Amino acid sequence: MTDKEIDEPTGVETTGHEWDGIKELNNPLPRWWLIILWITVIWSVIYWVLMPSWPGITGHFAGLRNHSERANVDAAIAALETERSAQMQQLLSATSIDEIERDPQLLQFAMNAGGSLFGDNCATCHGAGGQGFVGYPSLVDDTWLWGGTLDDIQKTLHHGIRSTHPETRLSIMMAYGETGAFSSDQIDDLVEYVTYLSGREADSEAVVRARADFTQQCVSCHGADGTGDPQQGAPDLTDAIWLYGGDRKDLRETLYYGRAGVMPHWTERLSDEQITALAVYVHSLGGGE
Ligand code: HEC
Ligand code: HEC
Repeated sequence: MTDKEIDEPTGVETTGHEWDGIKELNNPLPRWWLIILWITVIWSVIYWVLMPSWPGITGHFAGLRNHSERANVDAAIAALETERSAQMQQLLSATSIDEIERDPQLLQFAMNAGGSLFGDNCATCHGAGGQGFVGYPSLVDDTWLWGGTLDDIQKTLHHGIRSTHPETRLSIMMAYGETGAFSSDQIDDLVEYVTYLSGREADSEAVVRARADFTQQCVSCHGADGTGDPQQGAPDLTDAIWLYGGDRKDLRETLYYGRAGVMPHWTERLSDEQITALAVYVHSLGGGE
């Protein structure tokens, strides 16, 4: 292995390594390659000295430039927050949606902030565009369970619906079948009655039979004409919009087992300004009142 010799055809010394008669020449490294190597070595030393580099026991060497990405991000956030706080303050002091809508810049600000908050906090239940799912109301139509003014929406967000907040919106759709309040036949008749209320064809005899039960049991929340009551979150039964589905099977399930959808409250997770921005955004989605 140590048999270094001069390779005759090239005149270059070999390294002494040989495989199956093939000998390795001891050519020097190319100059351009060496230059780049030394540049990177020198650069790394400069970088170590200037920038945060070596780890220590309790921290790290911060470098002569005292550079910190974390501090940069904190500063950028702080700057953004001061820039925003004026607008946030303006949002908070606005008393009506009109006041916000009259100021296009403020409106744009609320829409941007509200839109991103919606994506982070609400889209899981209400859908990315607020279109809703069964049991989770659509926020893009102009039908509201609990009212669609800016105030109503804000109240819904602050207190939630059947949530853990002490001032939450309550009132539920009772389980008329499960509790034995109505017999199965009475429920079947009421299903026909609700079908009739929403303008569809229904068994007219059943409708007549159900009328007294509806008047006694349902009118206090859903109204004599069945158009609902936003004070109690009782849906309009005369439109074609159903929170839990409008065919006979769904209606029967609603009447038999009751319904009590839960919307969390947000006072603990979001600031008042954020809630206002969200309310403006939701209000704009569909037909805010
Ligand atoms: C865990 C699921 C869930 C999340 C998350 C959620 N909601 Fe809801 N939300 C509901 C349910 C369920 C209802 C309907 C309650 C009922 O049946 O009265 C509702 C109702 C509402 C209503 C009342 C609609 C009406 O017709 O009156 C508004 C407004 C609303 N949500 C907005 C939001 C916003 C804004 C967020 C995000 C901050 C959000 N929700 C997050 C489940 C959720
Ligand atoms: C105490 C008030 C109250 C009474 C009384 C009441 N409801 Fe309801 N009803 C509600 C509420 C609140 C909801 C919505 C529940 C939810 O959002 O989870 C509802 C939901 C419904 C729904 C579902 C609507 C949809 O869009 O899916 C139907 C159908 C319905 N009620 C029919 C009736 C009938 C029929 C009676 C009489 C037997 C009745 N309700 C009595 C409060 C009431």
